[in-house]
Amino acid sequence: MNNFVFNNQARVLFGKGQIANIADEIPEDSKILLIYGGGSIKLNGIYDQVIDAISEFEYHEFEGIEPNPSYEKCMKALEIIEENEIDFLLAVGGGSVVDAAKFIAAAAFFEGNDPWDILALNDEVFDAIPLGVVLTLPATGTEMNGNSVISRTEYKEKLAYTSPFVLPLFSVLDPQVIESLPKIQVGNGVVDAFVHVIEQYLTYPVDAKIQDRIAEGILLTLIEEGPKVLADQTNYDAGANIMWSSTMALNGLIGSGVPQDWTTHMIGHELTALHMVDHAQTLAIVLPGVMHVMKESKKDKIIQYAKRIWSIENNDEQKTIKEAIDRTIEFFESMGLKTRLKDYGIHVNSIDKIVDRMEARGDINIGEHKLVGIDEIRKVLDYRN
Ligand code: NZQ
Ligand code: ZN
Repeated sequence: MNNFVFNNQARVLFGKGQIANIADEIPEDSKILLIYGGGSIKLNGIYDQVIDAISEFEYHEFEGIEPNPSYEKCMKALEIIEENEIDFLLAVGGGSVVDAAKFIAAAAFFEGNDPWDILALNDEVFDAIPLGVVLTLPATGTEMNGNSVISRTEYKEKLAYTSPFVLPLFSVLDPQVIESLPKIQVGNGVVDAFVHVIEQYLTYPVDAKIQDRIAEGILLTLIEEGPKVLADQTNYDAGANIMWSSTMALNGLIGSGVPQDWTTHMIGHELTALHMVDHAQTLAIVLPGVMHVMKESKKDKIIQYAKRIWSIENNDEQKTIKEAIDRTIEFFESMGLKTRLKDYGIHVNSIDKIVDRMEARGDINIGEHKLVGIDEIRKVLDYRN
C-alpha cells in the first residue's frame, strides 16, 4: 500500500427529513447565497424545505446554474456576493450546482488575474467562502470532496480542479430526492459512481486490501441496487444504498494509498465539451475502450474485477478480460446508457479533434503508468466504433 494522508471534514446528514436540520450547521449570523439550477427544486418541494430551514438567516438567491456549469454563469454570482457581503454559500442541486458553488467560493477570494486560471493554469486556491450542500442527485461525489469541474463556453473547454478549501462543511443526503429525478439521471448517477470506483480500482495491485474490498462492495451495491431504483424511484432503501455508494465512491477513502487512473474522465470531458454528451454517458462510451486498450498493464486487476464482481471463472486470461468488458457494457446499457460514439451521433472525425486538443493541452501520457498517449487515446475512442 502506498503512503497517504486521509482527511475529510464534510459532515454528512443522511436520511429522511435532514434538510430541516441545516440551520444548526451554518455559522451564526451568516449571510447566505442560495445557489441552485434550472428550477427542479421548485417543482419537487426541496426549495420550500430549504427556505423553511434557513428562514432565520439573511439570504439571497442565485439561480440558473446549467448542467455542466459554465464559468460565465459562475462569474455573475461574484457581484451579488460583493454587494450583499455574502459569507456562506448553500448549494442545492446536483453535481453541476455544487461544482459551480465551489468555483464561485474560490473565485470570490482569488487574487490573480482571472479565476479561470485556477482551472486552466492550476493556480492555487488559498481561501474560499465556506459552503454547505443539499444534494439532489446521487452521482458525482462532489458533496464530500474538493473537486469542481467547470466549462468555459466560449472556448469549448471543460476543466477540473481540486482544493481542500472548497470541501463542503456539511452535506445533506436525503434519498427521497431521487423520486423526482428524470429516469436518465438515475442511470447516469449509477454509472458515474461506478466509473469513479473503477478509476481508483482498475489499475495495478499494491496489496491494498481494504481499499479493494470497499471498492468491490460499492461496485456490487451499484449493480444490485441500481436496477431497483431505475424500476422504482420510490424504493427508499435501494435509493439510500445508491446515494451512499456514490458518496463513498469519490470521497477520498477508496483512492487513498492506491494508484489512480482518470483516463476515462479526461477523455470523457472532451466529449462533453465538444458534443454536450452527459458526463456519465461519456464515461459509458470511453471506459470499455480504456479497459481493452490498456488490458496488458491492467491485467491483474481486470482479472480480479472479473472474478470478484462478475463471478467469471475462466483459465483463459484474454477470454476473462473480454467477458469482463462485455459485462460492464451490458450493465451500462441496462441502466439506460448507450456505449458507442455513433449512438450519440458523434462522427469519427471527432476523434482526431479530441486527440489534438488533449495533446495541445498536455493531457497526454496519462493513467496510472502514464502510458496513455496519443495513439492509445485514438484507439480508445475507436474501440467498437
Ligand atoms: O438544473 P436543475 O433544475 O437542478 O435540474 C437538474 C439537471 O437538469 C436535474 N436534477 C437534479 N436533481 C434533481 C433534478 N431533477 C429532478 N429532481 C431532482 N432531484 O438533473 C439534471 C442534471 O443535473 P447535474 O447536476 O448536471 O448532474 P450531475 O449530478 O450528474 O452532475 C454532473 C456534473 O458534475 C461533474 C460533471 O462533469 C458534470 O459537470 N462532475 C463532478 C465531479 C466532482 N465534483 O467530484 C466528479 C464527476 O466525475 C463529474 O465530473
Ligand atoms: Zn464522473
